[in-house]
Amino acid sequence: MRATAQKKDRYTLYTGDCRRVLAGLADNSVDAIVTDAPYAINIKRTAWDKSGVAFDPSVWAQCLRVLRPGGHMLAFGHARTYHRLAVAVEDAGFEVRDQIAWVYGQGYPKSTDVSKAIDKAAGKTRALVPRVDVNGVAGTDARKNGWVNSLTKTVRSDTRGITPEAQQWEGWGTNLKPSHEPILMARKPLDGTLVHNVLTHGTGGINVDACRADLGRFPANLVHDASPEVMACFPDVRANIGGTAWGTASAARVFYCAKPNARDKGEDNDHDTVKPTDLMRYLCRLVTPPGGTVLDPFMGSGSTGKAAMAEGFKFVGIDLMAEYVEIARRRIAGAL
Ligand SMILES: C[S@@+](CC[C@H](N)C(=O)[O-])C[C@H]1O[C@@H](n2cnc3c(N)ncnc32)[C@H](O)[C@@H]1O
Repeated sequence: MRATAQKKDRYTLYTGDCRRVLAGLADNSVDAIVTDAPYAINIKRTAWDKSGVAFDPSVWAQCLRVLRPGGHMLAFGHARTYHRLAVAVEDAGFEVRDQIAWVYGQGYPKSTDVSKAIDKAAGKTRALVPRVDVNGVAGTDARKNGWVNSLTKTVRSDTRGITPEAQQWEGWGTNLKPSHEPILMARKPLDGTLVHNVLTHGTGGINVDACRADLGRFPANLVHDASPEVMACFPDVRANIGGTAWGTASAARVFYCAKPNARDKGEDNDHDTVKPTDLMRYLCRLVTPPGGTVLDPFMGSGSTGKAAMAEGFKFVGIDLMAEYVEIARRRIAGAL
């Protein structure tokens, strides 16, 4: 497939395979790369997630070539496949500098119930029964599979094992609830010393002051969504502060950002893996010099580009799918 380009003052968007498009970009022509490459975790409905392109060092070698010396790359990964991304990036010649954890409470566990699987394999159909809820109150409502809220209690309806084996394995599953995404932080090797690199190429450092959290704290390798689930992980802070202000004060210790809502995604954005603009703004700001150019070779619906516009940067985006490039174009133009 031939790549096509749409050029505007502050952004250029390419439709095509990033391996081909990157090959046509000039050496040392972008200041930072902020990207969200396919995780290869079999996301439903998506053909683009299956190729394993993010584990191909030749993609990252092209990124390295177009990035200025000392330029940073931030690349999202998945807990299960991040290691393959990190090795490919390192094998391409980048220095791995850090890993930022984006922690959130909204993840949904996709776990197989071992006991149910055993009964199903034995051909047994289980009946729904009320189960004790999280607070230890016996429930009476037996609506199908799920949490049922009432004024006084939360009741979970579920089934019980029929075969002795299913009874033995009750309470066992196969997966944890996803609560974070790792973001690889890598840098193109410096041209000489840090001072020489910064003064010659304008890259090499990270923008600490522009990314300080509310209380002036140094940017950390942790970003979270301030959800009750995550805040419950900071009991010391809650105890120290007391009262009702603990959430705000604790959240202020690190940059915090929730998953994107419908307004942030924009109308008709049906991309499956949209990232929140605020998080992308923070990441772009962290690694891009003022007025610099951000590249995203796996742009999707353009969250990096939208963020780059809001932060006053220029943007180069690439995606394989014309329909996503069109969504990205609308969102990026809207941000301007
Ligand atoms: C995880 S999504 C990025 C989503 C994006 N962060 C957003 O907020 O919408 C990865 C994107 O990479 C694109 N992609 C997959 N293989 C590609 C390739 N070889 N070249 C360019 N884009 C590719 C897919 O079409 C998909 O939109």
